[in-house]
Amino acid sequence: MADIIFEGRVYTCQPGESVLDALIRQGCEIASGCRAGVCQACVLLMDEQEIARGCQQGLSPAQQKLNHFFACQCRPDATVHVRRPANAGGRVSGILRCREQVAPDIYRLYVSAQMDYQPGQYVTIFKDQTTGRSYSLASHPEESSSGERLLELHIKQHESGALSPWLCHDLQPGESVSLLGPMGNCIYSANPQQPLLLAGIGTGLAPLLGVLKDALHHQHQASINVLVGATEPSGLYCTEQLLGLAAAHANLQVEFLIQNNRNNQALDPATREADIYQYCAENFPDLKGYGVYLCGAESFVGKMRKQCFLGGAAMADISTDAFIVFG
Ligand code: FES
Repeated sequence: MADIIFEGRVYTCQPGESVLDALIRQGCEIASGCRAGVCQACVLLMDEQEIARGCQQGLSPAQQKLNHFFACQCRPDATVHVRRPANAGGRVSGILRCREQVAPDIYRLYVSAQMDYQPGQYVTIFKDQTTGRSYSLASHPEESSSGERLLELHIKQHESGALSPWLCHDLQPGESVSLLGPMGNCIYSANPQQPLLLAGIGTGLAPLLGVLKDALHHQHQASINVLVGATEPSGLYCTEQLLGLAAAHANLQVEFLIQNNRNNQALDPATREADIYQYCAENFPDLKGYGVYLCGAESFVGKMRKQCFLGGAAMADISTDAFIVFG
C-alpha cells in the first residue's frame, strides 16, 4: 500500500486506487469531474517527476513541465508527495447571460468570460469548489454581443446529473460560474483546400458548430459537408442556423439524419430518415484527403472514426470530441 503526502498530512492509497479517490475517501476536498483524464478538474502537482509523467497525457507541455498530473489517472505503488497547483488550476469567472431551451432535453447557454480559445475546444464548468463537468464551445471568439465576448454552450440535461440540472434550471442569468480551460484539440485544420466532413450527434453539434464557424471565418475553399444525427426529429436543434449558413455559402452542405421517425412526422427537405453510419458510408465512400471531425457520444465517435479510417481518411486528419457521460 502506498502513502500520499498531501498538504503536510499522510493518507493511505489502496492498491489500484487513484490519488483522487484516495484523497476524497479520506475527507480531502479535491475537485473532480470526468474521472477519465479529460476535464482537468482534478489536476494536482507531484514532486516525483517520473511518476507524474505517466499521468499527464492531454496536459499542455507547460503543465507537464510543472509536474502537473491527473489525480484521477494516477495509481501510485510507492509513496508520492502531491499538492495543489499554485494557481488553483487556472479557473476564470464567467457570468451566465442567457439560456434557452432548444430541444426537449437540450439548453443553449451564453456565458460571458474573459477566455481566449479556439472554436471547438471545451471548458470545465464548476458548480462549487469540487464538482465540475466539461462542455464544448459552439461559439467563435470573433462573435460578440454588445461588445461582449460570449461562450456558447449546449447542455444536455441528465435528470440525476451533478451539474446539468443546475446549469439548465437553477443557475440564473447574472449569476457567476467558475470555468477551467480551454482544452481539447478538435479545431479547424486551417487548410482551406481540404474537403471537410463534419459529423455529430446530440450536443456533439456544439464543437461541430465551432469548427464550422472557424472554417467559414477562414474562408474555407473546398467542400464542407455537415451531417447532424438525432434519434428522433425532436432531437434536432440549430437547424435554421445551419441551413442559413448553408444558404450563404455555396461550398457548405448540411444534412439532418433521423434514426427513427416513429410518428411519421413531416420532415423538411434537409432532413431524412437514415442511419448516420450507413448514410456516411454510402455517400462518402472515399474519404482520402478529407479532414474529418466527429463529435458526440463516445460510442458514436469510436465507431465512426473506425469507419472513416477504413474509408480512406488518414488517422491524423480525423479530429474527435468524444463525450463521456459521468452523471
Ligand atoms: S481529468 Fe480527472 S476528474 Fe476529469
